[in-house]
Amino acid sequence: MEYEPEREGGPAASETAEPYHIPVLKEEVVEELVTDTGGIYVDGTLGGGGHTEAILERLSPAGRVIGIDRDPEALERCRERFDGHEGRLTLIKGNYSEVDSLLKGLGIKEVTGVLLDLGVSSRQLDEGERGFSFMRSGPLDMRMGDEGVTAARLVNTLPEMELKKLFYEYGEESRAPRAARAIAAAREKKPFETTGELAATIEKALGRRGGKHPATKVFQALRIAVNRELEGLKKFLEVFTDILEEGGRVAIITYHSLEDRMVKRALRDMEPHCICPPAAPVCTCGEPGVMRVLTRKAVKPARREIEANPRARSAKLRIAEIFAKEAGGTNEQRTH
Ligand SMILES: C[S@@+](CC[C@H](N)C(=O)[O-])C[C@H]1O[C@@H](n2cnc3c(N)ncnc32)[C@H](O)[C@@H]1O
Repeated sequence: MEYEPEREGGPAASETAEPYHIPVLKEEVVEELVTDTGGIYVDGTLGGGGHTEAILERLSPAGRVIGIDRDPEALERCRERFDGHEGRLTLIKGNYSEVDSLLKGLGIKEVTGVLLDLGVSSRQLDEGERGFSFMRSGPLDMRMGDEGVTAARLVNTLPEMELKKLFYEYGEESRAPRAARAIAAAREKKPFETTGELAATIEKALGRRGGKHPATKVFQALRIAVNRELEGLKKFLEVFTDILEEGGRVAIITYHSLEDRMVKRALRDMEPHCICPPAAPVCTCGEPGVMRVLTRKAVKPARREIEANPRARSAKLRIAEIFAKEAGGTNEQRTH
C-alpha cells in the first residue's frame, strides 16, 4: 500500500467509521487464486482480513485459510472479525518469508494457493502512533510488527552516506543527498523522535513541489529498511515453490516498482527456458522450469476501483501456477 498524501491530514482511521483496510483487486485475486474450493490457502499478509474473508466465502466447508501477519494488532482485529471460523481459519503471528517453517509447525506440507498483498495496511498508515505518517505526528517507529530497529534509530545513527544510499535505492528519491544532509545537520542539535520532526526537516530541505508531500519517498525508503521488506520478499520468492502443490498458484500484489521488478523477474526465471529440440520426448537441457506465469502483463485495478479507493492506484497483481515440483518436467509441460 503506498503513501497517500491526499488523505494525510484527515482524521485517523480509528477515529472515523473508515474501514480498517479496503482489500485491493479482491475479485481478481479470488477468481484466479482459488482453483480448488476444498484446498488450503495461505494469506501471507492478513492485514484486516479482507482478502481472507473473500477467499473463505469462495471455499467449500472443507477449504481452509492460514492467515499470517507480523503485526499483532492485525491478528487481534482478525481474531474478532472471524470469531466462529476457527475450524476454517488459522491465524499466525509471523513473517511470510518463513512460510515454509510456519506451515511445517502446523503439520502442513503443501497448500493450493498463496497470496501476498504487500506493504502496509490503511490502519497502519493512518495511525499516527505507528509512526508511518508524515502528517499525523507520532513516535518515529514504522515497524509493522514488534521486532527490529525503529526508523528513529536509523535516522539518528546511520552515517549521512548510508542515508543517502537508502533514500536513492529504496525511495528512488533523486534529491537524496539534500535530504540526507539536512537530517545529518538537524540531528546534531537534537535527535529525531517524531515523524512530524522528520517530515518538517525534509520539507524545509526539499521544498514543496506539486501535491505530494516532499517527505513521501524518504518515508517509503525508511519503512522498507525498517521492515526489511525486500529481504523478506526475496526469501519468500526463494521458498514458496516448496510449499505449493502441483497446480497451485501464487498471487502477489505490489505497490512500488522495486517490489514489482523482483516479483516479475523471479516468476519469469521459474518459467521454462527449455532449449531441447521440440521432438524430444523428455527435457534434458535442465531448463524446463517449474512455473507458468498467468499474467503476461500485471493486472491493475479498474478506474472504478481506484476512484473508490485511491490507495489502490499503484497496485499490480501477478499470478503464476506451478506445474512441476522439481525442475525436470516433460516437454508437454513446456509453454514456449
Ligand atoms: C496491504 S496490508 C494487507 C491487507 C489485506 N490484504 C486486507 O485485505 O486487509 C499488508 C499487511 O501485511 C503485513 N505484512 C507486511 N510484510 C509482512 C511480512 N513480511 N510478514 C508478515 N506480514 C507482513 C502488514 O503488517 C499488513 O498488515
